[in-house]
Amino acid sequence: MSFNDVPELPHIAERTDPVIARLIVADANHTHGTSYHLVEQMNAGFQAGTWLLHNRENERAVLKWSPNRGSAPQFLRAADAVERARDAGYPTPAWLAVGIARSGFPYHIQQYVPGSSPSRLTAEVAELLLSVLEQQRGLDIDPEHCWSRYARNRLAGEWDHARQAVAGSGGEGGRFVAALDALVASFGQVELPSEDLVHGDFRLDNVLLRWGRVAAVIDIEALGSGTRAFDYATLLTVDDIDQAGWNLTRAAGEQVAGPGVLAHCFALVALDLVDFVRQRNPARLPLITGPLTDRATALLP
Ligand SMILES: Nc1ncnc2c1ncn2[C@@H]1O[C@H](COP(=O)(O)OP(=O)(O)OP(=O)(O)O)[C@@H](O)[C@H]1O
Ligand SMILES: [Mg+2]
Repeated sequence: MSFNDVPELPHIAERTDPVIARLIVADANHTHGTSYHLVEQMNAGFQAGTWLLHNRENERAVLKWSPNRGSAPQFLRAADAVERARDAGYPTPAWLAVGIARSGFPYHIQQYVPGSSPSRLTAEVAELLLSVLEQQRGLDIDPEHCWSRYARNRLAGEWDHARQAVAGSGGEGGRFVAALDALVASFGQVELPSEDLVHGDFRLDNVLLRWGRVAAVIDIEALGSGTRAFDYATLLTVDDIDQAGWNLTRAAGEQVAGPGVLAHCFALVALDLVDFVRQRNPARLPLITGPLTDRATALLP
């Protein structure tokens, strides 16, 4: 097959499909003059589609791509934002190449960083992560892509559909949504600031630790501006958190712009998480809805 023949792709592209990933790597090699080949899929969450690559020199790198062609502009702007964040000292792997494959799927190849993710948010882990989150302060990385604007719009009504779906999903869904509503109402009008860097998915499996330090914050494609309280709120929704980890993260998150900002961000992140699990993995719902309801209640003033 000559390089210019675009092969027929399956109708619904799966990020786990090695055929598509291989084609993307071939395109990337052609465009950037690199020599990568696919090694294996990397362990991951729901949409596992991150691939380990090696090049001719046996150096490792990581391929990420999206089956959503519409996300190409966000990939390209994220590449610039990642570079600016790294210039400011933020510990995220360099993007070695970014582009759009002939199939229209956006991709990027990033530095491989050895390390492993913590499984529990203890005080020790929280201390490491809070120092990373504090580096995000004032790094207004991409005002056009603003997480505080997103949160404001969702909380002003755009989240109603998800709220209703979760409330109607049975089990503890109703009690969970009532707890979020009570939390949001208890703080009245809240202004979300927007001058920080926001990672957008700051969870334990998106952090790599090594030798007791944060080696890298990964899965950063959705980064933008907003309030870093959003990332603190995300950490407060992780599955496994102990009391000391909760206390430290909550206190630091409330320091950012007050307890109301943290609470509003928490309500939105918790709802989006439960709604995602409801759609992708409903068997897990009973495991997370109860604890998140309790945490929402614990954040009441
Ligand atoms: N730069 C990297 N260096 C080393 N390991 C990485 C790197 N990027 C990703 N990984 C590994 O691959 C796993 C999946 O990567 P990542 O978190 O970026 O994708 P994901 O969670 O599957 O993505 P998404 O949430 O976009 O579906 C990580 O948990 C980590 O183990
Ligand atoms: Mg991830």
